[in-house]
Amino acid sequence: AAPRPLDINNVQGDILEGLGKKHQSFFFFRIKAGQASGFRDDLRSFIPLITTTTEAKKFHQAINEGKKEAAKQGKPFPLIENSGVNIAFSKKGLVALGFTDDIGDPLFENGMLADANDLGDDLTDWDADFKKGIHGVITVAANNNNVLERTVDRIKKIFRVGQKDVTIEEVTRLLGQTRPGAESGHEHFGFNDGLSQPAVQNVDAGVISEPLEKPVRQGVILLGREGDDGLVVPGDSTTPKGIKRPSWALDGSFLAFRYLKQLVPEFDAFLEANPLKGVPFPPAPGDPTGAELLGARLVGRWKSGAPVDLTPMRDNPAFAHRQDFRFDQKNQERCPFAAHVRKTNPRGDLPPGGTEVRRIIRRGIAFGPEVTDEERKQKRSSNDEKLERGLLFVCYQSNLGNGFHFMQQSWANNKNFPPTTQSDPNVPTPGIDPIIGVGTPRSMVGASPDLSASNQPLDFTAKWVIPRGGEYFFSPSIPALKSKFAS
Ligand code: HEM
Repeated sequence: AAPRPLDINNVQGDILEGLGKKHQSFFFFRIKAGQASGFRDDLRSFIPLITTTTEAKKFHQAINEGKKEAAKQGKPFPLIENSGVNIAFSKKGLVALGFTDDIGDPLFENGMLADANDLGDDLTDWDADFKKGIHGVITVAANNNNVLERTVDRIKKIFRVGQKDVTIEEVTRLLGQTRPGAESGHEHFGFNDGLSQPAVQNVDAGVISEPLEKPVRQGVILLGREGDDGLVVPGDSTTPKGIKRPSWALDGSFLAFRYLKQLVPEFDAFLEANPLKGVPFPPAPGDPTGAELLGARLVGRWKSGAPVDLTPMRDNPAFAHRQDFRFDQKNQERCPFAAHVRKTNPRGDLPPGGTEVRRIIRRGIAFGPEVTDEERKQKRSSNDEKLERGLLFVCYQSNLGNGFHFMQQSWANNKNFPPTTQSDPNVPTPGIDPIIGVGTPRSMVGASPDLSASNQPLDFTAKWVIPRGGEYFFSPSIPALKSKFAS
Protein backbone atom coordinates (compact mmCIF):
# COMPACT_ATOMS: atom_id res chain seq x y z
CA ALA A 1 0.00 0.00 0.00
CA ALA A 2 1.15 3.55 -0.67
CA PRO A 3 2.49 5.24 2.48
CA ARG A 4 0.55 8.08 4.07
CA PRO A 5 1.48 11.58 2.86
CA LEU A 6 4.69 12.84 4.40
CA ASP A 7 4.45 14.43 7.85
CA ILE A 8 7.64 16.40 8.42
CA ASN A 9 7.25 15.95 12.20
CA ASN A 10 8.40 12.39 11.57
CA VAL A 11 11.67 13.33 9.88
CA GLN A 12 14.83 14.22 11.82
CA GLY A 13 15.51 17.94 11.47
CA ASP A 14 18.94 17.88 9.87
CA ILE A 15 17.71 16.15 6.71
CA LEU A 16 15.08 18.44 5.20
CA GLU A 17 15.74 21.66 7.11
CA GLY A 18 19.16 21.63 8.78
CA LEU A 19 19.96 22.27 12.43
CA GLY A 20 20.69 25.90 13.29
CA LYS A 21 24.35 26.00 14.16
CA LYS A 22 27.53 27.85 14.78
CA HIS A 23 28.96 24.85 16.60
CA GLN A 24 28.35 21.20 15.94
CA SER A 25 29.52 18.04 17.65
CA PHE A 26 29.64 14.65 15.95
CA PHE A 27 29.80 11.99 18.65
CA PHE A 28 30.75 8.69 16.99
CA PHE A 29 29.91 5.74 19.21
CA ARG A 30 29.81 2.00 19.53
CA ILE A 31 27.10 0.17 21.44
CA LYS A 32 28.84 -1.69 24.26
CA ALA A 33 29.04 -5.45 23.78
CA GLY A 34 26.14 -7.12 25.56
CA GLN A 35 24.38 -3.78 26.12
CA ALA A 36 22.03 -3.70 23.10
CA SER A 37 18.90 -3.93 25.23
CA GLY A 38 20.19 -1.33 27.72
CA PHE A 39 20.94 0.91 24.76
CA ARG A 40 17.41 0.49 23.46
CA ASP A 41 16.09 1.52 26.88
CA ASP A 42 18.30 4.60 26.95
CA LEU A 43 17.26 5.48 23.42
CA ARG A 44 13.69 5.80 24.69
CA SER A 45 14.84 8.62 27.02
CA PHE A 46 16.94 10.17 24.25
CA ILE A 47 14.23 10.35 21.55
CA PRO A 48 12.39 13.36 23.09
CA LEU A 49 15.59 15.36 22.63
CA ILE A 50 15.61 14.81 18.85
CA THR A 51 14.90 17.90 16.79
CA THR A 52 12.20 17.34 14.18
CA THR A 53 11.98 19.09 10.82
CA THR A 54 9.12 21.23 12.14
CA GLU A 55 11.17 22.36 15.13
CA ALA A 56 14.20 23.12 12.94
CA LYS A 57 11.95 25.14 10.59
CA LYS A 58 10.46 27.10 13.49
CA PHE A 59 13.92 27.97 14.75
CA HIS A 60 14.97 29.30 11.33
CA GLN A 61 11.74 31.27 11.04
CA ALA A 62 12.35 32.85 14.45
CA ILE A 63 15.83 33.87 13.34
CA ASN A 64 14.61 35.35 10.07
CA GLU A 65 11.84 37.29 11.79
CA GLY A 66 14.20 38.42 14.56
CA LYS A 67 16.70 39.65 12.01
CA LYS A 68 14.06 41.62 10.12
CA GLU A 69 12.77 43.18 13.32
CA ALA A 70 16.28 44.06 14.53
CA ALA A 71 17.08 45.62 11.15
CA LYS A 72 13.87 47.71 11.33
CA GLN A 73 14.90 49.00 14.74
CA GLY A 74 18.52 49.46 13.65
CA LYS A 75 19.70 47.16 16.43
CA PRO A 76 22.14 44.26 16.21
CA PHE A 77 20.45 40.88 16.09
CA PRO A 78 20.93 38.93 19.35
CA LEU A 79 22.01 35.32 19.27
CA ILE A 80 19.06 32.99 19.80
CA GLU A 81 20.06 30.09 22.00
CA ASN A 82 19.15 26.72 20.62
CA SER A 83 20.28 23.17 20.44
CA GLY A 84 19.55 20.61 17.77
CA VAL A 85 19.98 16.87 18.21
CA ASN A 86 19.87 14.02 15.67
CA ILE A 87 21.02 10.38 15.58
CA ALA A 88 22.01 7.96 12.82
CA PHE A 89 23.29 4.36 12.67
CA SER A 90 25.79 2.53 10.51
CA LYS A 91 25.10 -0.98 9.23
CA LYS A 92 27.33 -2.31 12.02
CA GLY A 93 25.14 -0.39 14.47
CA LEU A 94 22.00 -1.99 13.04
CA VAL A 95 23.61 -5.41 13.37
CA ALA A 96 24.59 -4.66 16.97
CA LEU A 97 20.93 -3.85 17.63
CA GLY A 98 19.84 -7.14 16.11
CA PHE A 99 18.38 -5.89 12.83
CA THR A 100 18.46 -8.66 10.28
CA ASP A 101 16.57 -7.22 7.31
CA ASP A 102 18.29 -5.72 4.31
CA ILE A 103 17.69 -2.01 3.84
CA GLY A 104 18.50 -2.31 0.15
CA ASP A 105 21.62 -0.19 -0.25
CA PRO A 106 24.82 -2.20 -0.86
CA LEU A 107 27.12 0.76 -0.13
CA PHE A 108 25.48 1.29 3.26
CA GLU A 109 25.56 -2.46 3.95
CA ASN A 110 29.33 -2.62 3.32
CA GLY A 111 30.26 0.70 4.96
CA MET A 112 32.47 3.54 3.75
CA LEU A 113 35.76 1.84 4.59
CA ALA A 114 34.98 -0.84 2.00
CA ASP A 115 34.13 1.92 -0.49
CA ALA A 116 37.22 4.05 0.20
CA ASN A 117 39.19 2.64 -2.69
CA ASP A 118 36.42 3.35 -5.20
CA LEU A 119 36.05 6.86 -3.81
CA GLY A 120 39.75 7.42 -4.53
CA ASP A 121 40.81 7.72 -0.87
CA ASP A 122 44.29 6.87 0.30
CA LEU A 123 43.62 4.71 3.35
CA THR A 124 46.94 5.68 4.90
CA ASP A 125 45.40 9.15 5.36
CA TRP A 126 42.42 7.70 7.24
CA ASP A 127 42.25 8.24 10.96
CA ALA A 128 42.38 4.90 12.80
CA ASP A 129 39.09 5.72 14.58
CA PHE A 130 37.20 5.43 11.31
CA LYS A 131 38.58 1.93 10.80
CA LYS A 132 37.29 0.67 14.16
CA GLY A 133 33.71 0.01 13.15
CA ILE A 134 31.55 2.90 14.27
CA HIS A 135 27.93 2.03 15.20
CA GLY A 136 26.36 5.44 15.08
CA VAL A 137 26.67 9.18 15.33
CA ILE A 138 24.88 11.61 17.61
CA THR A 139 24.89 15.09 16.17
CA VAL A 140 24.43 18.10 18.42
CA ALA A 141 24.30 21.61 16.99
CA ALA A 142 23.99 24.93 18.77
CA ASN A 143 24.72 28.60 18.32
CA ASN A 144 26.42 28.78 21.67
CA ASN A 145 29.24 26.46 22.65
CA ASN A 146 28.17 26.24 26.31
CA VAL A 147 24.69 25.20 25.29
CA LEU A 148 26.22 22.61 22.99
CA GLU A 149 28.41 21.14 25.72
CA ARG A 150 25.50 21.12 28.18
CA THR A 151 23.39 19.20 25.67
CA VAL A 152 26.23 16.73 25.02
CA ASP A 153 26.58 16.17 28.79
CA ARG A 154 22.86 15.57 29.09
CA ILE A 155 23.03 12.97 26.32
CA LYS A 156 26.04 11.28 27.92
CA LYS A 157 24.06 10.96 31.13
CA ILE A 158 21.16 9.37 29.26
CA PHE A 159 23.53 6.71 27.92
CA ARG A 160 25.06 6.35 31.39
CA VAL A 161 28.55 7.50 30.35
CA GLY A 162 30.83 7.32 33.39
CA GLN A 163 28.67 4.67 35.07
CA LYS A 164 29.28 0.94 35.34
CA ASP A 165 26.33 0.03 33.11
CA VAL A 166 27.18 2.55 30.35
CA THR A 167 25.56 1.45 27.06
CA ILE A 168 27.75 3.28 24.53
CA GLU A 169 31.42 4.03 24.15
CA GLU A 170 32.91 6.99 22.36
CA VAL A 171 34.99 6.11 19.30
CA THR A 172 35.81 9.70 18.46
CA ARG A 173 34.23 13.12 18.65
CA LEU A 174 34.68 15.80 15.99
CA LEU A 175 33.78 19.42 16.54
CA GLY A 176 32.85 21.82 13.79
CA GLN A 177 32.29 25.52 13.96
CA THR A 178 31.44 28.20 11.45
CA ARG A 179 34.32 30.50 10.61
CA PRO A 180 34.55 33.91 12.32
CA GLY A 181 33.00 37.20 11.25
CA ALA A 182 32.43 37.78 7.56
CA GLU A 183 33.78 34.29 6.79
CA SER A 184 30.81 32.71 8.57
CA GLY A 185 29.21 30.25 6.12
CA HIS A 186 32.38 30.11 4.04
CA GLU A 187 34.52 26.97 3.94
CA HIS A 188 38.24 27.24 4.67
CA PHE A 189 39.33 28.00 1.08
CA GLY A 190 37.19 31.10 1.51
CA PHE A 191 34.13 30.26 -0.62
CA ASN A 192 30.55 30.67 0.50
CA ASP A 193 29.24 27.12 1.01
CA GLY A 194 25.90 25.37 1.39
CA LEU A 195 24.18 27.64 -1.14
CA SER A 196 22.73 25.29 -3.72
CA GLN A 197 20.36 22.69 -2.30
CA PRO A 198 17.56 20.88 -4.09
CA ALA A 199 14.04 21.95 -3.14
CA VAL A 200 11.95 18.94 -2.07
CA GLN A 201 8.41 18.56 -3.42
CA ASN A 202 5.70 19.72 -0.98
CA VAL A 203 8.30 20.39 1.73
CA ASP A 204 10.08 23.50 0.54
CA ALA A 205 6.87 25.24 -0.49
CA GLY A 206 7.61 28.44 -2.31
CA VAL A 207 11.35 27.80 -2.31
CA ILE A 208 12.63 27.64 -5.83
CA SER A 209 16.13 26.37 -5.32
CA GLU A 210 16.79 26.12 -9.01
CA PRO A 211 14.21 28.00 -11.05
CA LEU A 212 15.20 26.06 -14.14
CA GLU A 213 14.63 22.67 -12.44
CA LYS A 214 11.56 21.17 -10.78
CA PRO A 215 11.81 20.37 -7.04
CA VAL A 216 13.03 16.81 -6.53
CA ARG A 217 10.55 14.10 -5.56
CA GLN A 218 10.55 13.35 -1.83
CA GLY A 219 11.95 9.89 -2.51
CA VAL A 220 15.20 11.29 -3.84
CA ILE A 221 16.04 12.20 -0.26
CA LEU A 222 13.69 10.05 1.86
CA LEU A 223 13.49 6.27 1.67
CA GLY A 224 10.15 4.75 0.76
CA ARG A 225 8.74 7.90 -0.82
CA GLU A 226 7.96 8.44 -4.48
CA GLY A 227 11.19 8.80 -6.38
CA ASP A 228 12.93 6.16 -4.23
CA ASP A 229 12.00 3.33 -6.56
CA GLY A 230 15.50 2.21 -7.41
CA LEU A 231 14.62 2.91 -11.01
CA VAL A 232 16.99 5.63 -12.00
CA VAL A 233 18.30 7.15 -15.19
CA PRO A 234 17.00 5.11 -18.14
CA GLY A 235 19.79 3.08 -19.69
CA ASP A 236 21.91 3.19 -16.52
CA SER A 237 22.54 -0.42 -15.60
CA THR A 238 24.88 0.32 -12.70
CA THR A 239 22.25 1.03 -10.06
CA PRO A 240 20.00 -1.57 -8.44
CA LYS A 241 16.46 -1.58 -9.70
CA GLY A 242 13.19 -2.22 -7.94
CA ILE A 243 14.60 -1.90 -4.42
CA LYS A 244 12.29 -3.05 -1.65
CA ARG A 245 12.68 -1.22 1.64
CA PRO A 246 11.72 -2.60 5.04
CA SER A 247 8.78 -0.66 6.51
CA TRP A 248 10.98 0.92 9.23
CA ALA A 249 13.08 2.61 6.53
CA LEU A 250 10.20 4.95 5.52
CA ASP A 251 11.12 8.65 5.92
CA GLY A 252 14.70 7.89 6.87
CA SER A 253 17.66 9.02 4.82
CA PHE A 254 21.24 7.90 4.23
CA LEU A 255 23.81 10.24 5.72
CA ALA A 256 27.24 10.18 4.07
CA PHE A 257 29.78 11.61 6.49
CA ARG A 258 33.25 12.66 5.29
CA TYR A 259 36.06 13.97 7.46
CA LEU A 260 37.86 16.19 4.93
CA LYS A 261 41.08 17.96 5.76
CA GLN A 262 41.84 21.05 3.68
CA LEU A 263 45.34 22.32 2.87
CA VAL A 264 44.55 26.01 2.74
CA PRO A 265 47.99 27.72 2.41
CA GLU A 266 48.89 25.17 -0.29
CA PHE A 267 45.66 25.89 -2.21
CA ASP A 268 46.24 29.64 -1.99
CA ALA A 269 49.90 29.24 -3.04
CA PHE A 270 48.78 27.27 -6.11
CA LEU A 271 46.38 30.05 -7.13
CA GLU A 272 49.11 32.64 -6.69
CA ALA A 273 51.56 30.58 -8.72
CA ASN A 274 49.12 30.17 -11.61
CA PRO A 275 47.31 33.51 -11.98
CA LEU A 276 44.94 33.88 -14.92
CA LYS A 277 44.99 36.90 -17.11
CA GLY A 278 41.82 38.91 -16.83
CA VAL A 279 40.89 38.28 -20.43
CA PRO A 280 39.06 39.30 -22.55
CA PHE A 281 38.73 42.65 -20.78
CA PRO A 282 41.63 44.98 -19.95
CA PRO A 283 42.03 45.19 -16.16
CA ALA A 284 40.05 47.91 -14.41
CA PRO A 285 39.84 48.99 -10.78
CA GLY A 286 37.90 46.38 -8.78
CA ASP A 287 38.83 43.56 -11.14
CA PRO A 288 39.90 40.34 -9.46
CA THR A 289 43.53 39.32 -9.34
CA GLY A 290 44.53 36.45 -11.61
CA ALA A 291 44.69 34.21 -8.53
CA GLU A 292 41.13 35.16 -7.51
CA LEU A 293 39.86 34.55 -11.03
CA LEU A 294 41.50 31.10 -11.06
CA GLY A 295 40.02 30.23 -7.64
CA ALA A 296 36.54 31.23 -8.83
CA ARG A 297 36.91 29.12 -11.96
CA LEU A 298 38.08 26.05 -10.02
CA VAL A 299 35.00 26.25 -7.81
CA GLY A 300 32.55 27.66 -10.37
CA ARG A 301 31.51 30.40 -7.93
CA TRP A 302 33.30 33.45 -6.59
CA LYS A 303 34.10 33.66 -2.90
CA SER A 304 30.83 35.54 -2.30
CA GLY A 305 28.97 32.62 -3.90
CA ALA A 306 28.19 34.41 -7.18
CA PRO A 307 28.22 31.83 -10.01
CA VAL A 308 30.94 32.47 -12.62
CA ASP A 309 28.43 31.42 -15.26
CA LEU A 310 26.41 34.57 -14.49
CA THR A 311 29.30 36.92 -13.71
CA PRO A 312 32.37 35.44 -15.38
CA MET A 313 35.00 38.12 -14.86
CA ARG A 314 34.12 39.76 -11.54
CA ASP A 315 32.65 38.81 -8.21
CA ASN A 316 29.25 40.31 -7.49
CA PRO A 317 27.95 39.55 -3.96
CA ALA A 318 24.42 40.47 -5.03
CA PHE A 319 24.47 37.27 -7.14
CA ALA A 320 25.57 35.01 -4.26
CA HIS A 321 22.28 33.11 -3.98
CA ARG A 322 21.45 33.00 -7.69
CA GLN A 323 20.55 29.55 -9.01
CA ASP A 324 19.12 30.59 -12.36
CA PHE A 325 21.93 29.52 -14.60
CA ARG A 326 22.59 26.75 -17.07
CA PHE A 327 25.94 25.68 -18.46
CA ASP A 328 26.52 25.75 -22.18
CA GLN A 329 27.13 22.09 -23.04
CA LYS A 330 29.82 22.76 -25.61
CA ASN A 331 31.55 25.63 -23.96
CA GLN A 332 33.63 26.38 -20.90
CA GLU A 333 34.36 30.03 -21.53
CA ARG A 334 32.06 31.10 -18.68
CA CYS A 335 32.59 28.07 -16.43
CA PRO A 336 35.10 25.21 -16.83
CA PHE A 337 33.56 21.76 -17.37
CA ALA A 338 35.59 20.53 -14.39
CA ALA A 339 34.66 23.35 -11.97
CA HIS A 340 33.50 21.85 -8.64
CA VAL A 341 29.89 23.05 -8.94
CA ARG A 342 29.65 21.94 -12.58
CA LYS A 343 30.99 18.46 -11.74
CA THR A 344 28.62 18.06 -8.81
CA ASN A 345 25.56 19.60 -10.48
CA PRO A 346 26.00 19.63 -14.24
CA ARG A 347 23.06 21.95 -14.92
CA GLY A 348 22.26 21.68 -18.60
CA ASP A 349 25.16 19.33 -19.38
CA LEU A 350 22.93 16.25 -19.18
CA PRO A 351 19.49 15.58 -20.70
CA PRO A 352 16.61 17.27 -18.83
CA GLY A 353 15.67 15.43 -15.64
CA GLY A 354 18.88 13.39 -15.79
CA THR A 355 20.23 14.79 -12.56
CA GLU A 356 17.19 14.50 -10.28
CA VAL A 357 18.33 11.25 -8.64
CA ARG A 358 21.84 12.63 -8.23
CA ARG A 359 20.79 15.52 -6.01
CA ILE A 360 21.94 15.49 -2.41
CA ILE A 361 21.20 17.80 0.53
CA ARG A 362 24.44 19.07 2.10
CA ARG A 363 24.72 19.92 5.80
CA GLY A 364 28.47 20.16 6.44
CA ILE A 365 30.30 22.51 8.75
CA ALA A 366 33.89 23.80 8.82
CA PHE A 367 36.26 22.57 11.51
CA GLY A 368 39.63 23.71 12.81
CA PRO A 369 41.25 27.08 13.37
CA GLU A 370 42.01 29.86 10.92
CA VAL A 371 45.31 29.80 9.01
CA THR A 372 48.13 31.27 11.13
CA ASP A 373 50.55 33.98 9.94
CA GLU A 374 53.34 31.42 10.13
CA GLU A 375 51.52 29.02 7.82
CA ARG A 376 50.65 31.80 5.42
CA LYS A 377 54.29 32.90 5.30
CA GLN A 378 55.54 29.40 4.67
CA LYS A 379 52.69 28.65 2.20
CA ARG A 380 52.39 25.31 3.94
CA SER A 381 49.98 23.82 6.48
CA SER A 382 51.49 23.15 9.86
CA ASN A 383 52.02 19.56 10.99
CA ASP A 384 50.54 20.53 14.33
CA GLU A 385 47.33 18.49 14.62
CA LYS A 386 45.73 21.32 16.56
CA LEU A 387 45.98 23.42 13.40
CA GLU A 388 44.25 20.86 11.20
CA ARG A 389 41.25 22.34 9.42
CA GLY A 390 38.70 21.38 6.83
CA LEU A 391 35.12 20.36 6.31
CA LEU A 392 32.97 17.90 8.21
CA PHE A 393 30.95 17.04 5.13
CA VAL A 394 27.45 15.65 5.59
CA CYS A 395 24.97 14.88 2.86
CA TYR A 396 21.60 13.13 2.70
CA GLN A 397 20.05 11.02 -0.05
CA SER A 398 17.83 7.96 -0.39
CA ASN A 399 20.38 5.99 -2.39
CA LEU A 400 24.14 6.28 -1.84
CA GLY A 401 24.92 4.75 -5.23
CA ASN A 402 22.90 7.47 -6.94
CA GLY A 403 24.02 10.33 -4.70
CA PHE A 404 27.32 10.89 -2.87
CA HIS A 405 29.18 7.81 -4.11
CA PHE A 406 28.22 8.42 -7.74
CA MET A 407 29.05 12.11 -7.54
CA GLN A 408 32.52 11.44 -6.16
CA GLN A 409 33.43 8.43 -8.27
CA SER A 410 31.70 8.94 -11.59
CA TRP A 411 31.66 12.72 -11.80
CA ALA A 412 34.39 14.37 -9.67
CA ASN A 413 37.05 11.67 -10.23
CA ASN A 414 36.11 11.01 -13.88
CA LYS A 415 38.14 13.07 -16.33
CA ASN A 416 35.60 12.45 -19.11
CA PHE A 417 32.70 14.00 -17.22
CA PRO A 418 30.65 15.97 -18.20
CA PRO A 419 30.38 14.02 -21.45
CA THR A 420 30.70 17.01 -23.73
CA THR A 421 33.57 15.68 -25.74
CA GLN A 422 32.15 12.68 -27.48
CA SER A 423 30.22 14.47 -30.20
CA ASP A 424 32.71 17.22 -30.90
CA PRO A 425 36.41 16.41 -31.25
CA ASN A 426 37.28 20.09 -30.75
CA VAL A 427 35.96 20.09 -27.21
CA PRO A 428 38.68 18.76 -24.91
CA THR A 429 38.35 16.18 -22.12
CA PRO A 430 37.25 18.13 -19.01
CA GLY A 431 39.65 16.62 -16.45
CA ILE A 432 38.89 16.06 -12.79
CA ASP A 433 37.24 18.20 -10.11
CA PRO A 434 40.08 20.43 -8.81
CA ILE A 435 38.59 20.61 -5.30
CA ILE A 436 37.62 17.01 -4.50
CA GLY A 437 38.66 14.99 -7.57
CA VAL A 438 41.19 12.18 -7.40
CA GLY A 439 42.77 10.70 -10.52
CA THR A 440 45.74 10.58 -12.80
CA PRO A 441 46.66 13.01 -14.07
CA ARG A 442 45.16 15.34 -11.48
CA SER A 443 44.49 18.04 -14.02
CA MET A 444 41.75 19.87 -15.89
CA VAL A 445 41.32 21.96 -19.00
CA GLY A 446 39.46 25.22 -19.42
CA ALA A 447 40.82 26.93 -16.34
CA SER A 448 41.35 30.04 -18.43
CA PRO A 449 38.37 31.89 -19.87
CA ASP A 450 40.58 32.69 -22.87
CA LEU A 451 39.36 30.20 -25.46
CA SER A 452 42.71 30.14 -27.25
CA ALA A 453 44.26 28.77 -24.05
CA SER A 454 41.36 26.66 -22.84
CA ASN A 455 42.64 23.33 -24.21
CA GLN A 456 45.80 23.69 -22.14
CA PRO A 457 45.76 21.34 -19.18
CA LEU A 458 46.31 22.80 -15.75
CA ASP A 459 48.14 20.30 -13.54
CA PHE A 460 47.34 20.44 -9.84
CA THR A 461 49.76 17.66 -8.84
CA ALA A 462 49.01 17.95 -5.12
CA LYS A 463 45.63 17.36 -3.46
CA TRP A 464 44.19 20.13 -1.32
CA VAL A 465 41.42 18.05 0.18
CA ILE A 466 42.51 14.92 2.04
CA PRO A 467 39.79 12.48 3.15
CA ARG A 468 40.65 11.36 6.69
CA GLY A 469 37.72 9.04 7.19
CA GLY A 470 33.99 8.78 7.09
CA GLU A 471 31.06 6.42 7.29
CA TYR A 472 27.68 5.75 5.76
CA PHE A 473 24.82 6.08 8.24
CA PHE A 474 21.06 5.71 8.20
CA SER A 475 19.07 8.45 9.87
CA PRO A 476 15.73 6.80 10.81
CA SER A 477 12.36 8.50 11.06
CA ILE A 478 11.19 9.36 14.57
CA PRO A 479 8.32 6.82 14.51
CA ALA A 480 10.82 4.11 13.45
CA LEU A 481 13.17 5.13 16.26
CA LYS A 482 10.32 4.75 18.73
CA SER A 483 8.80 1.52 17.44
CA LYS A 484 11.76 -0.35 16.03
CA PHE A 485 14.99 1.00 17.56
CA ALA A 486 13.97 1.80 21.12
CA SER A 487 11.81 -1.18 21.89
C1 HEM B 1 28.95 23.16 -3.90
C2 HEM B 1 33.16 23.57 -1.54
C3 HEM B 1 33.24 18.75 -0.88
C4 HEM B 1 29.23 18.33 -3.52
C5 HEM B 1 30.07 23.69 -3.31
C6 HEM B 1 30.40 25.09 -3.25
C7 HEM B 1 31.58 25.20 -2.59
C8 HEM B 1 32.00 23.86 -2.22
C9 HEM B 1 32.35 26.47 -2.27
C10 HEM B 1 29.59 26.23 -3.89
C11 HEM B 1 28.54 26.81 -3.01
C12 HEM B 1 27.30 25.98 -2.85
O1 HEM B 1 26.47 25.86 -3.77
O2 HEM B 1 27.15 25.42 -1.77
C13 HEM B 1 33.55 22.29 -1.18
C14 HEM B 1 34.76 21.98 -0.47
C15 HEM B 1 34.78 20.63 -0.27
C16 HEM B 1 33.58 20.09 -0.88
C17 HEM B 1 35.82 22.99 -0.04
C18 HEM B 1 35.79 19.78 0.43
C19 HEM B 1 36.52 20.19 1.43
C20 HEM B 1 32.20 18.22 -1.58
C21 HEM B 1 31.92 16.81 -1.71
C22 HEM B 1 30.80 16.69 -2.48
C23 HEM B 1 30.36 18.04 -2.81
C24 HEM B 1 32.74 15.68 -1.07
C25 HEM B 1 30.09 15.43 -2.93
C26 HEM B 1 30.74 14.40 -3.43
C27 HEM B 1 28.79 19.60 -3.78
C28 HEM B 1 27.52 19.89 -4.43
C29 HEM B 1 27.45 21.28 -4.55
C30 HEM B 1 28.67 21.82 -3.97
C31 HEM B 1 26.45 18.89 -4.85
C32 HEM B 1 26.31 22.10 -5.15
C33 HEM B 1 26.46 22.23 -6.63
C34 HEM B 1 25.29 23.00 -7.23
O3 HEM B 1 24.17 22.57 -7.04
O4 HEM B 1 25.54 24.03 -7.84
N1 HEM B 1 31.07 22.96 -2.68
N2 HEM B 1 32.88 21.13 -1.42
N3 HEM B 1 31.24 18.94 -2.27
N4 HEM B 1 29.45 20.77 -3.52
FE1 HEM B 1 31.20 20.95 -2.54
